[in-house]
Amino acid sequence: MEINTIFIGQSLIHLKEVDSTNIAAQNILSESQPPEGTVITTSYQVSGRGQIGNSWYSSKEKNIMCSTILYPKWLLAKEQFHLNIAISCAVRSLVQKLIPTANVRIKWPNDIYIDDKKTAGILIQNTLSGSGISSSIVGIGINVNETEFPSELPNPTSILLSSSVVRDLDNVYAELYAEIERYYLKLRHDQIYTIKEEYVQHLYGKDRPLNFILTDGRIVTGIIQDVIDSGKLAILINGEEKLFAFRELRFQHSV
Ligand code: BTN
Repeated sequence: MEINTIFIGQSLIHLKEVDSTNIAAQNILSESQPPEGTVITTSYQVSGRGQIGNSWYSSKEKNIMCSTILYPKWLLAKEQFHLNIAISCAVRSLVQKLIPTANVRIKWPNDIYIDDKKTAGILIQNTLSGSGISSSIVGIGINVNETEFPSELPNPTSILLSSSVVRDLDNVYAELYAEIERYYLKLRHDQIYTIKEEYVQHLYGKDRPLNFILTDGRIVTGIIQDVIDSGKLAILINGEEKLFAFRELRFQHSV
């Protein structure tokens, strides 16, 4: 499939094997300033990185693993969560397009779930300069044709496992670039409120009570209400709305 974008994926670097595409992007950025939208893809990561020091599993040649270089200089450092919102919506929209009948949700802050299983993860690394953002590395991993996962991953799934259809990775990449561009341009054109509404509408746990583990080990039951500008999650617990930052709570039964 043709890459039908203005800038995302117009400059492509494919590495057969790499430690992590995010690290490769960091190295490239430390030596040069590639065009905005440059994407580094790989067929295999030796040490794929996940959120909070986790690793990211993917066997060879089965899945999407890429890092996109962006320069959202028009975004303030204090608004950096807006980029998470836009990219989460882009990946969610892609997965929904691939499986129109699936219940595709965003598990705060930016995991993509099909029902109760994780199918994609996002790792965004921003370089701040003063009150602005000078560059962003948007790492995306989507389990596409994976059929087996290590047993220590509690709830993984893939597009194949959820739809019984093997996908052509090049086609999925091309659609991903188009979705990233669509949402990134919306963000750039001040449509954060529209995107945020879409993000909140599709939040995992918005429609039913879930259990959360707090930093002191307590387990509380609550219903997700909203995400505020800083990226904090608002949860209704015992009739009272409480705010939590990323490290202040975990979902029970999740990666
Ligand atoms: C997570 O859910 O923990 C985030 C996973 C992000 C994985 C992708 S795969 C491509 C890019 N390179 C990495 O090392 N990580 C991201």
